[in-house]
Amino acid sequence: MRLHIPFLELGRLHESLRPELEAKFTEILRVGVFSSGHEVESFAREVSRFLGVKYAIPCSNGTDALEMALKVVGVKPGDEVIVPALSWISTAEAVVNIGAVPQFAEVDRNGLLDLNRLDKGLSERTKAIIPVHLYGKMVDMAALTTFARSMDLRVVEDAAQAFGAFQSGIPAGGWGDVGCFSFYPTKNLGALGEAGLLVTSDSISAENLSLFLNHGQPKRDEHEISGRNAKIDTLQAAFLRIKLKHFESMQERRKKLAAIYLERLGGLSEISLPMGMLQADHNAHLFTIQCVNRDQLKAYMEERGIGTAIHYPEILPHLKPFLEGRAFPVASTIARSTLSLPLNPSLREEEVHRVCDALVAYFQRG
Ligand SMILES: Cc1ncc(COP(=O)(O)O)c(C=O)c1O
Repeated sequence: MRLHIPFLELGRLHESLRPELEAKFTEILRVGVFSSGHEVESFAREVSRFLGVKYAIPCSNGTDALEMALKVVGVKPGDEVIVPALSWISTAEAVVNIGAVPQFAEVDRNGLLDLNRLDKGLSERTKAIIPVHLYGKMVDMAALTTFARSMDLRVVEDAAQAFGAFQSGIPAGGWGDVGCFSFYPTKNLGALGEAGLLVTSDSISAENLSLFLNHGQPKRDEHEISGRNAKIDTLQAAFLRIKLKHFESMQERRKKLAAIYLERLGGLSEISLPMGMLQADHNAHLFTIQCVNRDQLKAYMEERGIGTAIHYPEILPHLKPFLEGRAFPVASTIARSTLSLPLNPSLREEEVHRVCDALVAYFQRG
């Protein structure tokens, strides 16, 4: 069935930018530079200015960014890394892929690392911690970095979902030793394919990351280390430059729509609403509600032509590749009860009201 209000329609999201994106594609086809070059350098400069970070290094995707960041901060095979029990798989995958061991930690009711329980997961081998700014809401980074410093832990921020969120004027990604972003198409700043970004204020880390993601080459055919190819695609950098110019107006639109949800759904005692969504340290990436019988509500919405999504149906320590027996009751409750409502800048206000009408009707059925 074609949904009347899909969860996210990427074609429609790009409709207003289509002339600019098409002109850029035509220009690149004419110029003929398809790897590295001016577009990548310009994007790096523009995104570092936007975030206010010293070094911004575009790369292939957010998962590669996490892997490279962990290596650069010195995580070695056998080391342990604290990872929240609730996240997209990449956060744990990156740890395992470099031979380290994820130490899963419980989250708070927003799905963010529970800072009060962090010390429980520490051992002699703990080397780093990965705060995930889940759904676009930032972890309390002043508290987390203070804790990490006191325990001599490196901090790799998984800011994949939080581009454009700022805490005390410092961006998500800008607090840790290295910050990692994803420009997966569904993200607030989404490419027209795969792309990612690393940020840091440390010149040595920046140099190592830049070398590593380009075969260890400072110059063509000079190889200082054995690296890999994790460069951003030139076309994606070019498209992202255009999308970055429009980012703030798109964010305003997201927040405006989120405010409608908050206002309309505030009276429903059966659901809990996301916290701090309109604040600067939330980029309104996902509008997640929590309720009992979530799957039943999802089916109801679908019957009414409204698309929703689940982020995420299972917690990381209970996924096959990382399976462990410990219970994470808060993370598991969120995984069982959370539903993401449609929220993106191409949604019309009237559509948001229709989603709210359907929710109100569902809970008033008695
Ligand atoms: C929390 C989180 N971490 C990491 C990633 C990985 O990013 P990518 O899909 O660009 O590899 C994503 C996005 O998919 C994500 O949401």
